[in-house]
Parts: sequence; C-alpha cells; structure tokens
Amino acid sequence: RIRLAVVGGGSTYTPELADGIARLGKTLPVEELVLVDPDPARIEVVAGLTSRILAAAGSTCHVTTTADISAAAEGADAVLVQLRVGGQAARGRDESWPLECGCIGQETTGAGGLAKALRTIPIVLDIARQVRAVNPDAWIVDFTNPVGMVTRALLDDGHRAVGLCNVAIGFERLFASLLGVEPERIELDHAGLNHLSWELGARIRHDDGTATDVLDRLIDAHGHALVEETELPLPLLHSERVIPSYYLRYYFQHDELVSLAADRPSRAAQVAALEAELLELYADPALDRTPPQLRGRGGAYYSDAAVGLLASLLGSGTARDHIVNVRNRGILPFLDDEAVIEVRAKVGPDSIIPHPLPVPPPLVSGLVAHVARYEQLGVEAALHGGRDRVVRALLAHPLVGQYATAQALADRLIAENKEWLPWA
Ligand code: G6P
Ligand code: MN
Repeated sequence: RIRLAVVGGGSTYTPELADGIARLGKTLPVEELVLVDPDPARIEVVAGLTSRILAAAGSTCHVTTTADISAAAEGADAVLVQLRVGGQAARGRDESWPLECGCIGQETTGAGGLAKALRTIPIVLDIARQVRAVNPDAWIVDFTNPVGMVTRALLDDGHRAVGLCNVAIGFERLFASLLGVEPERIELDHAGLNHLSWELGARIRHDDGTATDVLDRLIDAHGHALVEETELPLPLLHSERVIPSYYLRYYFQHDELVSLAADRPSRAAQVAALEAELLELYADPALDRTPPQLRGRGGAYYSDAAVGLLASLLGSGTARDHIVNVRNRGILPFLDDEAVIEVRAKVGPDSIIPHPLPVPPPLVSGLVAHVARYEQLGVEAALHGGRDRVVRALLAHPLVGQYATAQALADRLIAENKEWLPWA
C-alpha cells in the first residue's frame, strides 16, 4: 500500500491527481494521499473535492491534510512537489517587467523564468532536505517550474528526484487522436530541455513489437493541427522536419510576442480568475468530479503523467516508458553529463534509464546547448545569490544576451522579488 505526499496540495490541479489515482487503483494502490499546504482554507476546499472524487470512484484511498512537511514525508513512498512560490501574483510580475526591457514576459522562459527559479529553488531544496531527514528513500517528483532548473538543483543536492511536465504527454495525446490510435501506442524521440523540446521522431508501436514511423505523416498530413497546438508557422515544420513544442514560439517569434503582449491580459491574471472560479466550484459538497473548467489550465492531464510515472517507479507492474527530466549522462553528447534533459526513459521500480536519441539537427542542438548553460548559471544564481550571478545568467540566455539589457533586467528582477531573495 502506497502513501503519497503532495507539497502544494492546495493547488487547483490536485483533484486531477485523485482522478488518476482512482483510475490506476490496481497498479498504484494508494492508501493515503497527504496534502501539504500553508493555506488552511484553500487546502480544506481542495481536500474536500479530492476525497469526494476518490470516494465516488470507489477508491479506498483517504485524504489527509497538514502544513508540516516532515509529518507528511514520514512513511511516504513519494513526495510530489507542485508549489508556486508567491502564487499567481508573483507570476504576474514575472510576465510584465521583462516587457519593459523589450523581452518576453513568461513564467518559465527568459528573465521571468529566472525570477521564478530564484524564488523557488531555495525553498524546494529546503523541503527536499526536510523530506530526506525523515525519509531518505522517498522519491521526489518535481512539477514545480522551472522544472529543468529545479530538478538540476535537487539532483546536485543529492536527492532522489525526477522532474515531470505535461508537454510530452500532450503531444502523445494529440498525435494519437490525429492518427486514430491509443496514446499508449505513441513513442516519441523527445529531445531537449524542459520547455525547450522537440519531437525528432514519432512512431506507432504495434503488438508484434514492430513500429511505424509517423513523423512525416504528422507533419505533412496534420500540419494544421500541429500549428494549432504549437502556434508556430507551418513552413517551419515543413522545412525543419521536427516538431517543436509550444515553448519554442517564445524563441522563434520572440519580438512578435513582445509586441502583442502589450494589448493582452497576462496569463497570470487569467489563471487567477480561473482559480477563483474553480475554488468556488470545488467548495460545492455535491461536486464529485473535476469540473470541465479545469481543462482551461495549461497543466491539464498532468495527473496522467504523474500517476503513470509513480505506478512504474513504485509499482510492481512492468517497466514502461515515460518522458522525464533526468541527468543527461551522454544522451545528448553536446551537453555535460550533469545537465538535466527531458527525454523518454524506461522506468521500473526505483530505476529510470533514458533511451538513446537520434542526433538532433544543429538548429536544435545549438539552442539546447545555449539554454543548458543558462540553466547551469541560473541554478548558481539561485543557490548563491548576488547581482553579478543574475546578470551572468541573463547574459547567457539566448533571448537576452546583451550586457545593458541583462543589467536592466537584473535590477528589475531583484527589485520585484526582494521578499524572496535574502541576499538582495
Ligand atoms: C504547461 C506547462 C506547465 C505550466 C502550464 C501553465 O502545460 O507544461 O509547466 O505550468 O502550462 O499553465 P497555466 O494554465 O498556469 O498557464
Ligand atoms: Mn511544464
């Protein structure tokens, strides 16, 4: 019987986790789900709906709540980290001040992403150390963004950690529906970093062990659906013959998005409104399923990724492939072994073994190598602080790169985040 702790359990995403646990009851028999959150009102509302979903689905898993990390981690098989330091308010600032310097304002990409890393990494490390003190064997599954940098910091600090994102599972679902097969049959050569990834290959796996290559078919026959998903230009897919994730638009259409941002409400503001609506719905004692409004969040279906991964990692079931954030260790030969990459890996009980990848084209490897160095410097800035380290990380970012801009962004970043930066 399995016990899971969820740090940031008051998130409006948590009821999805209950769905997943209920669905995978046989392979992942969870007996207790401990939600950890500092906000008592919010956690009660979310825990209420989470329990009702489990009960309605006939699950015997029970839900408890606490604000105490150590108590939650004690005896837990895995600790999911899905907190958001500073909430949507801090995110809203990450999305706005970079625009004043002519740079994209985004929660994980560019200067806003660095701000989030600086606020988040020290807190996640502190949590991980508390977990390890009472329970050194627990897996830490990180959903907290920026997932690549947070996972790298966790692994550097010696934790048993793996990072997870829903981008790849989103592609698996999309490709499956376009091709008329079940998502489990889709096998991706997913390459790059978290939120900087490409599909270099896509196959349908057949029962007899063979596979059919479908990348060209997706690009040539379903280009419009891919464009709808990624918001990238069709000719780019046609010429490059790889499928970039949605986040590549912040690179390939950077200036366009900066000018559009002026007349758009921030994503943080939209999400804050949606969360208020969701919490109101969750408080209704008659509700015992996730409301359709939850699909309006970017992290939709994240529980599929989480519960599936946990079933392989903790369950006694057969090993299965999952796309996860792990150490590179030679998979992308142009990166250090210590870099954290997002890649398909065979996951079995307590083991994660990445699959080799085809050699990415220079367009992909160049950008990935560039951003991986930024991530390394970003983690250093988060751990050790100091304006020089912040400037250096920004200077290393391909979307910044200029000294005057890096300095202006660093000053804004520090001024907007003083509350979370003890060195500032
Ligand atoms: C994507 C990313 C997540 C991110 C989410 C944002 O799915 O993979 O890492 O948190 O979008 O969604 P939101 O609804 O908060 O804008
Ligand atoms: Mn993500």
